Amino acid sequence: MRLYVNLDHVATVRQARQTVEPDPVRAAVLAELGGADGITVHLREDRRHVQDRDVELLLQTVRTVVNLEVAVEPSMVGLAVAWRPQAVTLVPERRQEITTEGGLDVRASESAVGAAVQRLHGAGIKTSLFIDPDEDVIQASAAVQAAAIELHTGEYANADSEAEQITQLERLRSAARLGRQLGLAIHAGHGLTYHNVLPVAAIPECEELNIGHTIVSHAVMVGMERAVREMKALLLRARA
Ligand code: PXP
Repeated sequence: MRLYVNLDHVATVRQARQTVEPDPVRAAVLAELGGADGITVHLREDRRHVQDRDVELLLQTVRTVVNLEVAVEPSMVGLAVAWRPQAVTLVPERRQEITTEGGLDVRASESAVGAAVQRLHGAGIKTSLFIDPDEDVIQASAAVQAAAIELHTGEYANADSEAEQITQLERLRSAARLGRQLGLAIHAGHGLTYHNVLPVAAIPECEELNIGHTIVSHAVMVGMERAVREMKALLLRARA
């Protein structure tokens, strides 16, 4: 099972001040030291967090794999083709959303998604589609010849009862089985946390999880004590 760490929210904190820290490129080095098997970033059309500069530097510095998430837009796919990361995940994108809501509607935009997959595969980039764990979307993903699907785990993560969580987990399990039968590599992600990840990580067909917000959140907490101690030491040194 591979862990790809999504660093979008390191960039979110930086963009809150339009400054140079924290740098997702430095975070990527540390994530790899922690055992990340890949680094994922979502270059949104509005550039609200990750910037082109981040992707360019990550491609030069990441020693594992860069998985670039982009919308199914010819200009974004064109950037991916020019940059040639090892992996691209095509995601739906709406300007007003706080985070990616829902998976790609592959059936409604089969020709656009198919064209993007062809373009990316033509450039030697492994292409995955971020989709809801539903049979018809999985069939459509196989039809457009995606290499992989990333199953949207948001409904599982947001389930408000144990019964609903079990239903959503079963939905993910059947989706993973069907995807694998159709020859697709199975990834999953969105909303996974230290508390809810285990049952998803145990799905046998699933070979990669993309996890971001909970890891960045936890990093803020476990790193806070040291960060304050180092600043306090500096202040005390000034008066020594
Ligand atoms: N996978 C995809 C396609 C995403 O868009 C995101 C969120 O950017 C994630 C996984 C990670 O979700 P989270 O930040 O909730 O772990």
